[in-house]
Amino acid sequence: MCGIVAYIGGQNATPIVLGGLKKLEYRGYDSAGIAVLQNGKIEIRRDAGKIDHLETLITQEPLEGNLGIGHTRWATHGAPNMQNAHPHISSNGEIVIVHNGIVENYLSLREELSAEGAVFRSETDTETIVLLIEHYYAVTQDLLRAVQETLKRIKGAHGIVVMSSREPDKLVAARLGNAGGIAIGRGNGEMFIASDLPAIVEHTHDITFLDSEQIAVVQKDGLTLQTLAGTPIEPIWNHIPWDPVSAEKGRYRHFMQKEIHEQVRSLSDTMVGRIDFDDYRIMLPDLHLTADEAQHIRKIFITACGTAYHAGLVGKILIEQIAHIPVEVMVASEFRYLDPIIDEGTVVLAISQSGETADTLAAMEEGRRKGAKLWSIVNAIGSQAMRGADGSISMQVGPEIGVASTKAFTAPILDLYMLAVYLADLRGELTDEKRHELVQDLLKVPTLAQKTLAREGEVKKIAAKYKDIRNILYLGRGINMPIAYEGALKLKEISYIHAEGYPAGEMKHGPIALIDQELPVLVIAPKDKWYEKMISQIEQAKARGGKVITIATEGDTLIPELANEVMWIPETPWLLSPVITSIPLQLFAYHIATLLGLDVDQPRNLAKSVTVE
Ligand code: M6R
Repeated sequence: MCGIVAYIGGQNATPIVLGGLKKLEYRGYDSAGIAVLQNGKIEIRRDAGKIDHLETLITQEPLEGNLGIGHTRWATHGAPNMQNAHPHISSNGEIVIVHNGIVENYLSLREELSAEGAVFRSETDTETIVLLIEHYYAVTQDLLRAVQETLKRIKGAHGIVVMSSREPDKLVAARLGNAGGIAIGRGNGEMFIASDLPAIVEHTHDITFLDSEQIAVVQKDGLTLQTLAGTPIEPIWNHIPWDPVSAEKGRYRHFMQKEIHEQVRSLSDTMVGRIDFDDYRIMLPDLHLTADEAQHIRKIFITACGTAYHAGLVGKILIEQIAHIPVEVMVASEFRYLDPIIDEGTVVLAISQSGETADTLAAMEEGRRKGAKLWSIVNAIGSQAMRGADGSISMQVGPEIGVASTKAFTAPILDLYMLAVYLADLRGELTDEKRHELVQDLLKVPTLAQKTLAREGEVKKIAAKYKDIRNILYLGRGINMPIAYEGALKLKEISYIHAEGYPAGEMKHGPIALIDQELPVLVIAPKDKWYEKMISQIEQAKARGGKVITIATEGDTLIPELANEVMWIPETPWLLSPVITSIPLQLFAYHIATLLGLDVDQPRNLAKSVTVE
């Protein structure tokens, strides 16, 4: 959702902040703005629309100064227009703010400030924050203290960066609750702030992250950190290994296409450091788990949203099949409202690419409140879901920029597979022979992904035939049932075609009524124990005039006779087949959307990180 970038140092802040905002475009936004301290005065350029438009405004009226803040806004309070775009400035023009989050008590604060004579120039909740800071600054004459006082008054979760022309040697950054991250990077005589790492990794890999209720005073040579109550804290600096090039499109037309193709590497990367090749054991040291603790796990509760939830559904089958531990999976948006049954024998396992999805973080908090051990599988290093867990598994796939998640879907499936093998091993559930077999299967996956990707041209031809459909039904069974959900989600997100994922065995209980010449059915039918049943689904759809697209295993001679189209995958161990069957579905969605001329990387109405409920 909203993005924040800020700079203090010896260079002109404008291109650095603008460049950072561009790197955050993938998060989704509808207006953008920047404020720079120019010759002692705060100057703002902002408007609805894309960053290209903001750049044009800056070309017409240039901005230059060593202190700057910028923002991409995803509208919540008030339409996406110039007045509501961030940064928001105080009445006296001396304090300016960028903000992520929602001020839950903004109406009462607005009334209070209006009664004191404040004049609001936008419909946003954010403006109440800057006017409150102005109010407290008049009393304290100190930016840090004014921000501290203000944060005590506002409800909700927030990330903010504030600057003042009265204190031109600093930026004040703060975080309250889980409204997305605030990362601070240090350079040589310059400092960078961003809500998300791709905005600043080009400049520095030396990063510290703000926790909730922390405030930082950032100056060009460093920062001081304290709690909201004023207790000093020593910042923890992390070295972030991300290569800035991985946040660029390179030779690909879209980030999504690049990220689909990167899966050969990301599937290997997620295994790096986790396999002991001497005896084919899985090692997950960041879970901090002893054999005794592993023995006492009675249930694992997986919680996540969207694509990550689908990975969790696959994870349930993996953990139950391999480690024989009961697993429940619940969408994170429901978790805290359904009083899930959790005790000290339960592990709550959150899965999140961004590590900052508000519902997922709230589910983790609920798990903590009920006494569960917390684990997470997260991509964004240093994110709240990673730091707030007792143990975590990093996806290790580098930044994912495309809003439609691809490599951050397949990597956590491998992580869940490794987790299942690791738990089974610690609990004494595996013979050496079985463990060797499971790990050897795992090692085959990157090559299988490569073979599947090599067939992109065939999938593209099928996409060209079906690009004008308005509806489609995806069917899967067993471990590929979640892949039917995920395939359908991918298509609807980026092509705006209505796609429904359904358990194949349920088709006869209702959806079969929909099938006619107008409704293609996509059947996931690899050679596994559900194969015969999927053949029967294909027959039933054909009998009703439906066009059938299938995913089938190379060498299958029956399916090409029955189906209208086949997307081929190589023979794959059944527990790992979801990683491979999902690849043609990613490509199918990608090519349909590009053939329709749609904005694949930033589909309408969607944000990469959903930091509000
Ligand atoms: O960052 P997270 O993995 O927590 O995000 C969860 C969902 O918002 C996300 O997977 C969403 O469904 C994607 N747009 C799917 O492509």
